[in-house]
Amino acid sequence: MVRELRESVTEALSAAGFDRLFCLTDSTTLQVCWPLLADMPVMRDACMITIGDTDENKTTESLMHVWESLQHGGATRHSLLVNLGGGMVTDLGGFAASTFKRGIKFINIPTTLLAQVDASVGGKTGINFGGLKNEIGVFNCSERVLLASDFLGTLDDRNLLSGYAEMLKHGLLDCREHLYELLAFDPTVVRSGDAAARQGLVRMVGRSVAVKERIVEEDPTERGIRKALNLGHTAGHAIESLAMQEGRTVLHGYAVAWGLVMELYLCVVRCGFPGVVFHQVEEYVREHYGKFYFECRHYDRLTGFMKHDKKNIGEAVNFTLLGDVGDIRINETCSVQEIEQMLDYYREN
Ligand code: GLY
Repeated sequence: MVRELRESVTEALSAAGFDRLFCLTDSTTLQVCWPLLADMPVMRDACMITIGDTDENKTTESLMHVWESLQHGGATRHSLLVNLGGGMVTDLGGFAASTFKRGIKFINIPTTLLAQVDASVGGKTGINFGGLKNEIGVFNCSERVLLASDFLGTLDDRNLLSGYAEMLKHGLLDCREHLYELLAFDPTVVRSGDAAARQGLVRMVGRSVAVKERIVEEDPTERGIRKALNLGHTAGHAIESLAMQEGRTVLHGYAVAWGLVMELYLCVVRCGFPGVVFHQVEEYVREHYGKFYFECRHYDRLTGFMKHDKKNIGEAVNFTLLGDVGDIRINETCSVQEIEQMLDYYREN
């Protein structure tokens, strides 16, 4: 497996062509993932750049460190940046590369399941700013995204499940057969070393990425159908923001999983989404992700976060909803009353 990764890195680097090579890691991927590539001849002269390893480091300071390292390392417009890490590294590295000398090439090697199925694909790059996530950034696609199953074995259950939530979303946007395949699988079994389970997950990752690529190809800059990828995220981001304010740690994918349940409830009441499928997803999420607890006194803050989601236009709260699995309805505007009904349902069930 490592051999396949090393072959694809060699092939991608020679196809990209460059005068100087830079590799961005965070402090964890430097320790855990970089050793798989470090002794490759093509990597021998790579100039390493390392930033801190959590989302709090997705800042202007880290960005400046990357720009300075590129400058001091003699990067030119023909240099190449390899981003080896999770979504924080691929987003920040992609933005640094897109803006250095008006843009140098970059390749993403996502090391988390979340980054493999979502962040590293589709050209969204950026950093957090002014207390808001991904506030500054540009759309710019990497030269290549190299998917390596080797890194999945480095992830704990929570990080596997976090990425899997985005895969559930892609299944919901695609078709019932895809969704049911996902609902019949538990990504944490790959940690037992079961080769068949690992292969199954790798195949499902490929299928998931294909759904995202198909949507992004149609609408790279999110004017229309790319908004489908926000399914579960309007409520999910509100959960993340509330949790952050309250000092509770919530992984992105967990918030998306809870957000999917909330928003599928809206799909049922507004768009006729089949109740049976809704309950199957709800049960899977309850069993694997547990529940996000909140009270009525949190409603104002939760709806406030939804209203201020940067994907809204004006005061209306925009959702992506489904009439059925694969039947996508973008720009569904919901009233505060409907949102509170959704929060009631989630809290009481
Ligand atoms: N994460 C959703 C998107 O890339 O559009």
